[in-house]
Formats: sequence, structure tokens, C-alpha cells
Amino acid sequence: KYWNIYQANEKQQQEAIMEASLLLQQGETVAFPTETVYGLGADATNEQAVRKIFQAKGRPQDNPLIVHVAAVSQIEKLVRNWPSYVDKLLEAYTPGPLTFVLPSNGTCTTSVTAGLDTIGVRIPSHPVARQLLSTCHLPIAAPSANISGRPSPTSAKHVWEDLYGKIAGVVDGGATGVGVESTVIDCTQDIPVILRPGGITAEQIEKIAGAVMVDPGLTTENGKPKSPGMKYRHYAPEVPLWIVSGSKGDIQATVHRLQTEGKRVGVMGKDSTILHLHANAAIKLGNTMEQVAANLYDALRTFKLGEVDIILCEAFSEHGMGQAVMNRLSKAATRMISLQ
Ligand code: TXA
Ligand code: MG
Repeated sequence: KYWNIYQANEKQQQEAIMEASLLLQQGETVAFPTETVYGLGADATNEQAVRKIFQAKGRPQDNPLIVHVAAVSQIEKLVRNWPSYVDKLLEAYTPGPLTFVLPSNGTCTTSVTAGLDTIGVRIPSHPVARQLLSTCHLPIAAPSANISGRPSPTSAKHVWEDLYGKIAGVVDGGATGVGVESTVIDCTQDIPVILRPGGITAEQIEKIAGAVMVDPGLTTENGKPKSPGMKYRHYAPEVPLWIVSGSKGDIQATVHRLQTEGKRVGVMGKDSTILHLHANAAIKLGNTMEQVAANLYDALRTFKLGEVDIILCEAFSEHGMGQAVMNRLSKAATRMISLQ
């Protein structure tokens, strides 16, 4: 079932939300927009329903899901306790792209937490997600609505490409805004620890919580990430992707070298970079890191096998939103090369 919400009138919108909500209550899976990426939702208290998510996505069983709720009062019903900096972060950044990992009280079914004693919860800010959550009155487990390993979906079209025939429905609310997933923070210690960089930056968290740490598993080569999802290859485009750090001239020279080897080369980067490059195909990601984040996954899906043989993407500075962008790019890439 497909509901187009963003081109519908108010009555049609309400009907769509009611129908989608009913399917969720009946233990079915429904994809819906959030401000980050589309999520594939199911009732987080219903084991059979949650299993359908893993099945549709082909997701490894040891990777826990984020639970989405409409209000802080609903988080209280799912967890045992939290440190006071969580109150401040909730106040400052929710609803929004921030996920709190807290001690679970066992209300959600075991597949949701993949057997961990913690649970990831967030309050999305997208109006469609909010309406759906408040209508169905359930905590909704929702990973990104893509086939595991593929780039996350930032439009209903992406969801359809990956999951048509495998889910009960998709609510089309247009393109998502942020474009990369929520920031996941471990809030079981005295200081919040970033397990996955995302829509809320480290700088923003530090400003409110007073301090922030980054999971060593994210930055070191052999570290074991505490967020189980971070160890898998992700976001992979069809075509091999290289991240190139160097000047525009260096990137252009790499394009030429690959073309001499008979390869068709696609390039992606900021508008100001792409303007100066000549390649077989090019995708401009915008001028700010926020725009780059918003356009990244669509770009990774757009380069198709048969059209180009390799994609080169410029490396970005890892400040602010650049941290999440580089995290996703490095997971999508088959190679990182530095020409500096
Ligand atoms: O923006 C988002 O967060 C999107 C939208 C749909 O809300 N959702 C999303 O879910 O990205 P997913 O399943 O693709 O990624 C969830 C991440 C994984 O890396 C998972 O390992 C981690 O959150 N996670 C979930 N529960 C956790 C827990 N209890 N402890 C540590 N990491 C957890
Ligand atoms: Mg995902």
C-alpha cells in the first residue's frame, strides 16, 4: 500500500495516517519519513512484527533497532533511569535527530534490543512521523527502510526500489531533510559517548551536556564499535567508490589516469569542486555540509553500474556535519586515497 501524503489534502492525509497506524497496530511493517531518512516501522512490543523488519531488510539479527516515540513520557515507560544530562539534551534537541541509548526495562521485545540490556530511543521531528506515532500510541521500532548494506532511503522512491513487495506499506512524505541518520549516544555513563555521528553534531552535544566522547571503535582501525550496526559495510553504491583527499588538480589527475585505463569515471563533491572537474558523469552535492548530507544517499544510488565504472568523491573536513558525512562515506567506500 502506498500513500502519497505531501501532495494530498488534509482529509486524505488523515485517512492515510489512520490506515498506516492500523496496519502497525495489527503487527505489519510500514515505512514512513523521518527528518533524517525513511524508517521501516513495526510495533516494538510485538516480536512477530519486529521479525518482519529483519526479514524485509535482510538485517543481521545482532543489530538492534531504534525505538521511535512521540513524547518523553513514552521514553520513561521503556527505560530504567538516566543521568541528568539526558534531560538537558532532550530539552535542547528533541524532537530531532538524536538517539539515546539507555538501560532497557524490558518492555520492548528481545529482537529490538538484539539481546542487549540497553535500548536506543528517539523522538523524531518530522510531522508525518509524529502524527503516525501519536495516532498508533505504540513505541515503533524503525531502522532505515533500505535493504541492509544499501544507502539509506531519503525518498519514498528509494524505499520502493528496495522493499516493494516485502512490506505492508509506505507513507510518502517527500524528501527527508537532514539526509543522514540520527546521532546515537550512549547515555549509560557519566559522559555521553557518540556511537554513531549523525544529524546532531558533537559540538552541539558538548555545548549542552558539558562534555562528549566518541566511541573509540569509531575512529580506530581495530576498535570494536559499541554500536553493533557500525561494524558492517554500509551505504554501498553499485559502483566502487573511492574517497580522494587532495586538491582539485589532484582529483582531476586521478580521473585522467583512470580514464586512460579505460574506465568511465563519475565524480561527486561540493558544487565548487565539481565545477572544476571534467569526468564522464558528475553529481553536485551542494555548498554547505548540511546540503552535502541531505544529497549524499541519493547521489550514491544514482551512479549506476553500466554508466560509470568508478566513483570518486572528494574528502570533506570532519567538522560539524562533516563528521557524519565522512563516517558514512568511509563505510561506503572501497578505497581511501590521500594525494596530499
Ligand atoms: O535517523 C535514524 O536513526 C533512522 C531513522 C529511521 O530514525 N534510523 C536508523 O536506524 O538509522 P538503523 O537501524 O539503521 O540504525 C540504528 C543504529 C545501529 O547502528 C544500531 O547498532 C544502533 O543504532 N543501536 C540501536 N540500539 C542500540 C543499543 N541499544 N546500543 C548500541 N547501539 C544501538
Ligand atoms: Mg540503517
